[in-house]
Amino acid sequence: MYTMDELRKFCFKCRKCRLSQTRTNVVFGEGNEDADIMFVGEGPGYYEDVQGRPFVGKAGQLLDKMIEAINYKRSDVYIANVVKCRPPENRNPMEDECNECLDYLRWQVKLINPKIIVCLGAVAAKNLIDTNLTISKQRGIFVKKGNIYFMPTFHPSYLLRNEAAKKDVWKDLLEVKSKLSSITYRTY
Ligand code: URA
Repeated sequence: MYTMDELRKFCFKCRKCRLSQTRTNVVFGEGNEDADIMFVGEGPGYYEDVQGRPFVGKAGQLLDKMIEAINYKRSDVYIANVVKCRPPENRNPMEDECNECLDYLRWQVKLINPKIIVCLGAVAAKNLIDTNLTISKQRGIFVKKGNIYFMPTFHPSYLLRNEAAKKDVWKDLLEVKSKLSSITYRTY
């Protein structure tokens, strides 16, 4: 089992796919390594690539509001992406790029062991829940895998273009909030 620091070091040196050739910085992920909730996006954009931090641009400001909507602070949760390097021109990450990078995310999930993972948008939901998932049809419905509940919802960038979808995401976040309060772990 790797530690988060070891994993970060591997990731910083990673050259497994073409995205490593054009990146400025690896965007590993950040937050509370003991978090109850993880938010997973698709991949870094321009500002994330420059700063080496996830969700720091416009979509990130909206994500901060989404986190506050469930009475958490950004520092309480863990934020990561499916791919750790920026796809050029902000295109969607390709299937082989996601596959090369997913092991890093899987390790992050193992180390954090969150109760809930909110999948932000189709790329995260397809890679973490089911490759055949349709985000517009299946958002808002929890999928349990092992001990973790996955909630597919719209990506904050989509909400910036489609204000009307905000009410759906806020509904999904209420589900997350109530699921969290209903999950109780007994220690013997
Ligand atoms: N969009 C994402 O999917 N991830 C980020 O980190 C920023 C924007």
